[in-house]
Amino acid sequence: MAAQLQTMALAGAKPVAAPRRARSQLRVSAVADVERVQTNGNVRRGVPEGTPVVPVRDLPSRPRRNRKSETVRRAFSETVVHPANFIMPVFVHDGDKNIPIDSMPGVSRLGWKNGLVDAVAEARSVGVNQVVIFPKTPEELKTSTAEEAFNPNGLAQRTISLLKDKFPDLEVYTDVALDPYNSDGHDGIVSDEGVILNDETIEYLCRQAVSQARAGADCVSPSDMMDGRVSAIRQALDSEGFTNVSIMAYTAKYASAFYGPFRDALASVPKAGQAHRRIPPNKKTYQQDPANFREALREARLDELEGADIMMVKPGLPYLDVIRLLRDNSPLPIAAYHVSGEYAMLKAAAERGWLNEKDAVLEALLCLKRAGSDLILTYSATEAAKWMAEDSPSWR
Ligand code: PBG
Repeated sequence: MAAQLQTMALAGAKPVAAPRRARSQLRVSAVADVERVQTNGNVRRGVPEGTPVVPVRDLPSRPRRNRKSETVRRAFSETVVHPANFIMPVFVHDGDKNIPIDSMPGVSRLGWKNGLVDAVAEARSVGVNQVVIFPKTPEELKTSTAEEAFNPNGLAQRTISLLKDKFPDLEVYTDVALDPYNSDGHDGIVSDEGVILNDETIEYLCRQAVSQARAGADCVSPSDMMDGRVSAIRQALDSEGFTNVSIMAYTAKYASAFYGPFRDALASVPKAGQAHRRIPPNKKTYQQDPANFREALREARLDELEGADIMMVKPGLPYLDVIRLLRDNSPLPIAAYHVSGEYAMLKAAAERGWLNEKDAVLEALLCLKRAGSDLILTYSATEAAKWMAEDSPSWR
């Protein structure tokens, strides 16, 4: 009977829909045989009435066999995310209270002395032991040349020292760029004609990186996209004796609309121009065009040559192809920044009950890893690590 059915299948025999009324009769004859064949000798129990009676398909391969139980699914899972892969970005301010950020529910500007320390302790308790610090600079300390960026007693520097003091084994990353300190709201110094000055900016980025290293930073992360800044920062660090301080380069950072909530958090939106000074309204002369793919490879080759230790792609989810490009073209660790706007989108949908937050967030993080990133910068770090510890064996 089995052979006969196979021949029928090969000859393209049409599936026979079991007529509803005749079903009990069929069970004793044709259906029983078909079921035995389909289930490899075990008679199939209970199918809804109306289920067609068909011959077994002669398939050379059935990928579903490798998904048939939770145990085999876990055994064959190609990607695993650990809290150890996460870097938690933290916003700090020079006050005591934590101030919620409207466009990032669940995220606050933390008081650098207390709120921050509590948040880091909580993250560490669930296995997240890496943070990147973003200071909110008071408006009165911002200037067009952003010297506050390398003030040895600046908020970033104080925060780094405090964290390294409290948690010596915490990996502290910093952001190297002028925008949180620049009254014009750009990552570099803006000339009166509205040009973001490259080489002049690099001089200050080097001072900023060295001052962060002096405060105890483990890894400095240039996010400014100036040309040649990685090699300049490497030399500046080395010449000051900081050969152990790493550089995570924002290699492919796109001029993206997904940074909106971050700029709310730090009040770092590019400022409006004035009569005598033109200030570009966007960052397109230094951040990459979202349309471009090959350009990311060009940046990656330079960052590698210039001595980057880690290369980053930012944003994350809309740029999975770029993460994969870098993964396939460099032996360096790759980081993905799951940015503020991506966080806000997921939160907003979850708040409305349109997405299951836990499942959606864990899937997003898993996919960033699958695309090829080793590290994931995410505002969901602590929450995700808690979910991962709680249950979801398939995520571990
Ligand atoms: C600025 C910087 C930005 C982010 C990290 N560093 C914003 C920007 O380039 O305007 C964005 C992070 C996020 O959106 O979560 N140097």
